[in-house]
Amino acid sequence: MNTPTLTLTANSAGPPSAEDLVDVLLSKMTLEEKIGQLQQVDASADPLPDHLIEGVRAGRIGSVINLANTDACNRLQRVAVEESRLSIPLLMGRDVIHGFRTIFPIPLGQAAAWNPELVRKAARIAALEARSQGIHWTFAPMIDISRDPRWGRIAESFGEDPHLTGLLGSAMVEGFQTADLSGHGAILACAKHFVGYGASESGRDYSATNIPANELRNVYLEPFRRVVEAGAATLMTSFSDLDGIPATANGALLNGVLRGDWGFDGLVVSDWNAINELIVHGLCEDSRSAATEAALAGVDMEMAGDAYASNLAKLVEERVLSVSQIDAMVVRVLRLKQKLGLFERPYTDPAGFDPLVSDKALDVAYQAALESLVLLKNDGAVLPLRVAGLGSIAVIGPLADAPHEQMGTWVFDGQKTDTATPLQALRRQFGGKIDVNYAPGLETSRSRSHALFGEAETAVRNSDVALVFLGEESILSGEAHSRADITLPGAQSELLARIRALGKPVVTVVLAGRPLVLSENLPHTDSLLYAWHPGTMGGPAIAAVLFGDEAPRGKLPVTFPKSVGQIPIYYNHKNTGRPPNPSEMILIDDIEVGARQTSLGMSAFYLDDGSEPLFPFGFGLSYGKFELGGLELSQQIIGLCDRLKVRATVRNTGACSGFETVQLYVRDIAGSLTRPVKELKAFKRVSLQPGQSGLVEFDLGAADLSFYRRDGSFGPEPGKFCLWVATRSDGGLKAEFSLSAQ
Ligand code: GLC
Repeated sequence: MNTPTLTLTANSAGPPSAEDLVDVLLSKMTLEEKIGQLQQVDASADPLPDHLIEGVRAGRIGSVINLANTDACNRLQRVAVEESRLSIPLLMGRDVIHGFRTIFPIPLGQAAAWNPELVRKAARIAALEARSQGIHWTFAPMIDISRDPRWGRIAESFGEDPHLTGLLGSAMVEGFQTADLSGHGAILACAKHFVGYGASESGRDYSATNIPANELRNVYLEPFRRVVEAGAATLMTSFSDLDGIPATANGALLNGVLRGDWGFDGLVVSDWNAINELIVHGLCEDSRSAATEAALAGVDMEMAGDAYASNLAKLVEERVLSVSQIDAMVVRVLRLKQKLGLFERPYTDPAGFDPLVSDKALDVAYQAALESLVLLKNDGAVLPLRVAGLGSIAVIGPLADAPHEQMGTWVFDGQKTDTATPLQALRRQFGGKIDVNYAPGLETSRSRSHALFGEAETAVRNSDVALVFLGEESILSGEAHSRADITLPGAQSELLARIRALGKPVVTVVLAGRPLVLSENLPHTDSLLYAWHPGTMGGPAIAAVLFGDEAPRGKLPVTFPKSVGQIPIYYNHKNTGRPPNPSEMILIDDIEVGARQTSLGMSAFYLDDGSEPLFPFGFGLSYGKFELGGLELSQQIIGLCDRLKVRATVRNTGACSGFETVQLYVRDIAGSLTRPVKELKAFKRVSLQPGQSGLVEFDLGAADLSFYRRDGSFGPEPGKFCLWVATRSDGGLKAEFSLSAQ
């Protein structure tokens, strides 16, 4: 192996420091080699094109994306380390969004577990699998606040709440990076998409986002502030146009907020070709202008584009950009390579890692799938099923045995052959004790043909209960896959209605990449379990909950609308001057002919849909029945340095053991800006046997009440507050307290 031409001698202060290495390298690099470090090139072609290999050899490429196996990564790394002038190793990037080979639930499903430790564990497994294959950098967590389920990328998000998103995004960063980037199996995280992508107009991907400054600061930026605090090594800019200035050219946010206010000293990478897209947006006339805008705004590395490679050298020559500006960008790249230990250990040896899809990985995938499941309806306690009382079950639906679909969007290295589907799990776990009659009823989630309905009806007639697996194929969510009508696709609703008409108990399990509008389906099922796209171990997890081996414990991280017309609908909304008043509302079917103009209730509601969603944020049932009581506050007034202690009891008054996630919400009654009607501040899960009670305690301080105020400063404002201890965002035990100015 050609040892790097760069030799560092220990100075009087001891072995060369990271800065020494970077500084010495920088002093030796030509401008072309510096600009080379700012290129991330797509390496998905197989075999790799000669121009790419030559570019690495010439030091014109600093990183590649989509090379994802050890041999290929090591082969290209040898070119960089042994054949280039300065032997600078490459950064290998890959979208490891919710698993590498072992696939965990989509992030929206992981969010439904409300379990940061589980998110961290899953990310840890994903990092180890990816690192064993030569990957150094993943483009996750995606922490775009998502309030519009028409948007396909809601699947990749942690939902609508800034606190939950910030918490889970930070946990994912810790799972990927650990405390030491040079440690075993650590990979760079990349928080994305900075910022506001989730507000894409009409839920159509890549559309413009127009976000008022206060909403931007207090909602969309908040998760990024949290993950930067958690040590995210890199961020990715969003494709989106933000109020006329695309995020990839938004210096106020990149240099101003990210680096200036928050002190972020990591690397900012553009999204795929997003710098050249500044031309398409209409911000720039040509790639020279696009490269200028992005570089001046604070974008260090260009992903899959040629604006930097084609223009930076000339921009330095013309003194539009300075060498020191380029150096600052290059240092951020080199520093990450150094932190990863790539100068000392540039090659990957898989021998030091567990095999892919190890038992440990599958155990974590099972637990993540299990905790992601949200029980939304269970009339007559049809669930849990008991083998003892059953002779046979009908397993119906296009998603009962769909191993590829169950993995969900953004899966590049997962293999459907690893997937355990609900049908396989039910057969494996219960096939010997009860008859399992399977009939898909539809070929895919989009099929409109009724040709297979008869077979499905026969299976149900011959069974004691119908388990119907409906939802969306994985391709119907994710990037560029928005839907204007988010009801069940195809003829699935008709299929469910036909099954319902047979008079047997019906349990519906939905596998989807977004909240679907299920209003017409709800009357056709006794029980409804939401499984998102649950990943490799979704089948066994669903089977365990259906038959009571496990109790469901998930809670919604996003609001489910009654109709697409309600969108955007989310729990932490503003109160308005005329909040909805159900006691005054007169809905469309109840309006008297000739009703007076002002007689229907003058408040914020729809004549045809009221004001409430189908299912609220934070909602989810378990097999117990949980009641809150005994709310106590340590004091009614807290000072700026006090902690308010909040406690309540939760009791399982049901006949089965189960879980409850108790949530703490706060409302700032009056502020220099109007504040949301509720904001999630904390949550705790309890597991209780029938009749058992538990004590739940929270504490709040001024920092928890802080926000970006009218003058732009961050902090709390003295005054009155309400708090709720609740099991869902639309209810709970309420109390008042005040924050004093002292
Ligand atoms: C995509 C996505 C981004 C992803 C990147 C690399 O277009 O917007 O989230 O990480 O390109 O695949």
